Amino acid sequence: MNYSKHILCIGAGYVGGPTMAMIAYKCPRYRVTVVDINPARILQWQSDDLPIYEPGLDDIVRSARGKNLFFSTDIETGIREADIIFVSVNTPTKSFGVGAGMAADLQYWEKTARQILNVSTTSKIIVEKSTLPVKTAKAMERILSSTTNGVHFEVVSNPEFLAEGSAVRDLENPDRVLIGSRQTPGGLSARDELVEIYANWVPPDKILTVDIWSSELSKLVANAFLAQRISSINAISSLCEKTDADITQVARAVGMDTRIGNRFLNASVGFGGSCFKKDILNLVYICRYYGLNEVADYWEHVTRINDFQKERFVTNMLNVMFNTLAGKRIAMFGFAFKADTGDTRESPAIYIAKRLLEEQAELVISDPRAIDNARDDLKDYLPRVSFTPDPYVAAAKSHAIALMTEWDDYRYLDYESIHRSMIKPAFIFDGRNVLDHRRLFEIGFNVYPVGKPVLTHL
Ligand code: UDX
Ligand code: ADP
Repeated sequence: MNYSKHILCIGAGYVGGPTMAMIAYKCPRYRVTVVDINPARILQWQSDDLPIYEPGLDDIVRSARGKNLFFSTDIETGIREADIIFVSVNTPTKSFGVGAGMAADLQYWEKTARQILNVSTTSKIIVEKSTLPVKTAKAMERILSSTTNGVHFEVVSNPEFLAEGSAVRDLENPDRVLIGSRQTPGGLSARDELVEIYANWVPPDKILTVDIWSSELSKLVANAFLAQRISSINAISSLCEKTDADITQVARAVGMDTRIGNRFLNASVGFGGSCFKKDILNLVYICRYYGLNEVADYWEHVTRINDFQKERFVTNMLNVMFNTLAGKRIAMFGFAFKADTGDTRESPAIYIAKRLLEEQAELVISDPRAIDNARDDLKDYLPRVSFTPDPYVAAAKSHAIALMTEWDDYRYLDYESIHRSMIKPAFIFDGRNVLDHRRLFEIGFNVYPVGKPVLTHL
């Protein structure tokens, strides 16, 4: 088949995989290839058992794969044949040296830039898809402009705003697509090529074109604002617990103000996921670099409140369970950082599990999709942790249930039979406020929600 464009994506992860599947699905005339250094991951993308769980993704991959969507480990051939290369490799927070714990670790990204430089024989558009610090495009340009063979690379920024668990919906019907380019003739023409891709299914008024630095910064700011909203509501949830107010009612009253809006106001055990903490710390690092210490402190507090919220959850468990968790069996309902994903990166459940283990509790972890990742996250704590997909098995003979993830499955369990199977007094700590607390109380549980009055028989 004669394809009108050859698109390559380097990095077959949570961003690269779904995004490229959607482009291939919506643009049958483009050939889309996704490459990765991890052969096991590529094998999974080629199989019926995709490496990530994302509602609706299987159907899209199945309909495009083998026609115009391909997964491969042959990165060099991919680079050589591509007109447009999306770079979607991981950029975790640096764990060493200058900026450790704050700045982005750009080693994977830089390796990719050098590989593109070494292998390319024709000019290409390079698209920053990974979330990166502002001005990374410039660094990428510098590396890529060191070629002497007449090959030219135009770097554009096209940050991804999809949220896990709703990636397919977000990609199919995005609030906006952001494309940042240099305002030079080459930059504008690269920008137009990207606009042309998205225009296959995204209405023109939702495709926003801006300068490259604004685009890079917007991604960090969007995530910082979202995380800030959660830390704001979580901060107020702690006050509600002291004053017998109900955070759900407060959030409803506040969110009905159209200037504030009602979304992202669910108090919880804390936010997780690969982006929020990393992007805020990145923002903090950049602010400090430019001497804006007050601004850096302001944003850093969003992550501090998140840490406080997680720690508060553990301290509360400890306090109400008679100040000792030693030898007590605790069932964790959910381990993923949110529902509808198997991803556990930065999941509050990891922190809480480790703290409960420090208190010498015994844990049974249950999750419909994240058991493999949970096992890996807690591999140093065996055998005091066990794993089961079945929440009834997890709850049997335990002293408490700690609900970590708002999976629908947990709303509809037979809590009467669960209560019968538990050690009394039975406790339930609802870290997501998704259960029917009154009903649980009537069954006999001592119920501890987030930011609401407790319902206890003690
Ligand atoms: C986020 C951004 O939403 C997305 O635009 C960006 O591209 C990547 O980062 P993601 O991390 O996948 O997406 O999930 P999101 O839905 O934003 O949730 C992040 C965390 O916040 C989860 O742990 C979630 O449970 C928590 N959360 C969310 C709350 O605690 N309360 C809320 O009201 C909303
Ligand atoms: P994200 O959530 O940002 O998509 P992931 O960790 O899920 O992050 O995916 C990033 C992917 O990038 C991983 O599958 C990793 O193996 C891949 N990767 C990292 N470095 C390279 C590289 N130099 N070449 C190709 N793939 C890479």
